[in-house]
Amino acid sequence: MAGLADYSVVERLRDGRTVEIRALRPQDRAEMLAAIGRTSTQSLRRRFFAPKKGFSEQEMAFFLNIDFENHVALVAQIDEDGRPAIAGGGRYIVVRPGQAEIAFMVVDAYQGQGIGTILMRHLAVLARDAGLKELIAEVLPENTAMLKVFKKFGFRPDSKRDPQVAHLTLQLV
Ligand SMILES: CC(C)(COP(=O)(O)OP(=O)(O)OC[C@H]1O[C@@H](n2cnc3c(N)ncnc32)[C@H](O)[C@@H]1OP(=O)(O)O)[C@@H](O)C(=O)NCCC(=O)NCCS
Repeated sequence: MAGLADYSVVERLRDGRTVEIRALRPQDRAEMLAAIGRTSTQSLRRRFFAPKKGFSEQEMAFFLNIDFENHVALVAQIDEDGRPAIAGGGRYIVVRPGQAEIAFMVVDAYQGQGIGTILMRHLAVLARDAGLKELIAEVLPENTAMLKVFKKFGFRPDSKRDPQVAHLTLQLV
């Protein structure tokens, strides 16, 4: 979508701090690695469903090369003593025509401040504006925080039962 690479909106967190919700940039590599480095193994497992120690060059390229059409990624940038830091991010990837899979990760120290909810709100608007018909997500059943965020936006569990992973869908149209 035209102009999405320049996307930037300032939002307020629960504790009153401001956060910039902006498009992920190819230059964010170091900041993104720093954010991953500050994220607990439990959070990484909840995002990637497997113990994740590091990321290959190929994985990093995949996460950073965003076309803002089939792959849209936003980050939440926060000011830490005058220096910008990535506190979290969310992305959707089109998996079939009209349908995209969405996922988030927020650095542990910033969880519970509303960043996940804010990222979800922005991505839902972008997905709808892009003409997508539905968003899908896979969540570990113990991941109460993520399930809560998805439920707030109207995601519904799929009929197919999988005890290991909850499959959720949000109809956009
Ligand atoms: C899931 C995640 C993205 C949510 O982001 P966040 O910034 O913490 O989310 P928010 O602050 O917007 O909201 C979290 C909600 O869950 C609630 N919550 C948090 N931990 C909880 C817990 N253990 N039990 C119940 N509710 C919980 C919060 O109170 C909040 O609900 P509220 O808005 O009604 O107060 C973040 O916790 C995270 O990155 N987790 C690890 C990675 C992950 O699970 N990714 C999801 C893969 S799809």
